[in-house]
Amino acid sequence: MFADAVDACRIPYVVRLADNVHAVVYRLMKLLPAHHILRNARDQGRLGDGVTVVETTSGTFGLALAMECAISGHRLVLVSDPVVDARLRRRLEHLGAEVVIVHERAPGGGYQATRLARVAEIQATLPATFCPEQYSNPDNPGSYALAAELLTEQLGQIDCLVGSVGSGGSMCGTTRYLRQANPELTAIGVDTHRSVLFGQRDGHRVLRGLGNSLLPPNLDHGQFDEVHWLGAADAFTATRRLYREHALFMGPTSGAAYQVGSWWGRRNPGARTVIILPDEGYRYQDTVYDDAWLAANGCDPGARPGSPREVAVPEDAEREWCRMAWARRSLDEVVPGALLKGARS
Ligand SMILES: Cc1ncc(COP(=O)(O)O)c(C=O)c1O
Repeated sequence: MFADAVDACRIPYVVRLADNVHAVVYRLMKLLPAHHILRNARDQGRLGDGVTVVETTSGTFGLALAMECAISGHRLVLVSDPVVDARLRRRLEHLGAEVVIVHERAPGGGYQATRLARVAEIQATLPATFCPEQYSNPDNPGSYALAAELLTEQLGQIDCLVGSVGSGGSMCGTTRYLRQANPELTAIGVDTHRSVLFGQRDGHRVLRGLGNSLLPPNLDHGQFDEVHWLGAADAFTATRRLYREHALFMGPTSGAAYQVGSWWGRRNPGARTVIILPDEGYRYQDTVYDDAWLAANGCDPGARPGSPREVAVPEDAEREWCRMAWARRSLDEVVPGALLKGARS
């Protein structure tokens, strides 16, 4: 039996970056959760013919859903905000997705809460809908069993996993499955300043794809040994370094993970480190891959990273690259009251 084109994009490949450091490279990582979530919904009778798929996303999960729905024939409505990239929007629409834009910001400054409210309104007007809910659906982390299996098959024991965190699905899912073979695996999450994911206050963020203004239930804080906060300039220059040094043409969340993972790998030469690279660079050709754009945004593509500043509490992680020992604690153990306060927004 032949795989279709989407099947072929879904399976990542493994690349060696240093003797002890490998990358798991995805063309579009979100195809794993999109496929798994829709397939399970179909198997459970929640996604029959004629059911409309509705989701809030302005990123790669929307693209993955659009690819899957183009094949299955389901109508897809995606709720996004004005920050949606115009080219991505065209790609979604070319695949047949309908894109609805919300314009009002929630009190914290982000669009996430208004987008979720709009999804609920759309669902109320349609006879049969299915919402994949990547932030809370356990099939999102559950879909990464396949990646963990592939990594274990190709590399054997893995000692450290490094990846950026948005919904938490990829890091928490892959970590959970890899720990079945090695409970000692060190899990390192990469976030950005002013994201609420690891206890900071919500605020303006330049990096997209990682970080969040709401706490996703799929983020299981107790899995993380270490958390790093990176700014956009670090992530952008690291993305260019990843391309220059390894010819891996990837997006800025890959660059962010590469900066942290290669640093950790150098400090732990005896440990096998795997870095998650979630998407390709094509969407960022006019930004991260354009020197004039980088210069206008205060970035030098040739800059070398130093080392992270150690912090004891998330609120001290400001401006520069920072690192904190999370020690598999819950968010409430690290920032008491954060959950009750709606993640300090
Ligand atoms: C490009 C990119 N990288 C990384 C992530 C973070 O992955 P996760 O949602 O599994 O935490 C996302 C999430 O949307 C993404 O779009």
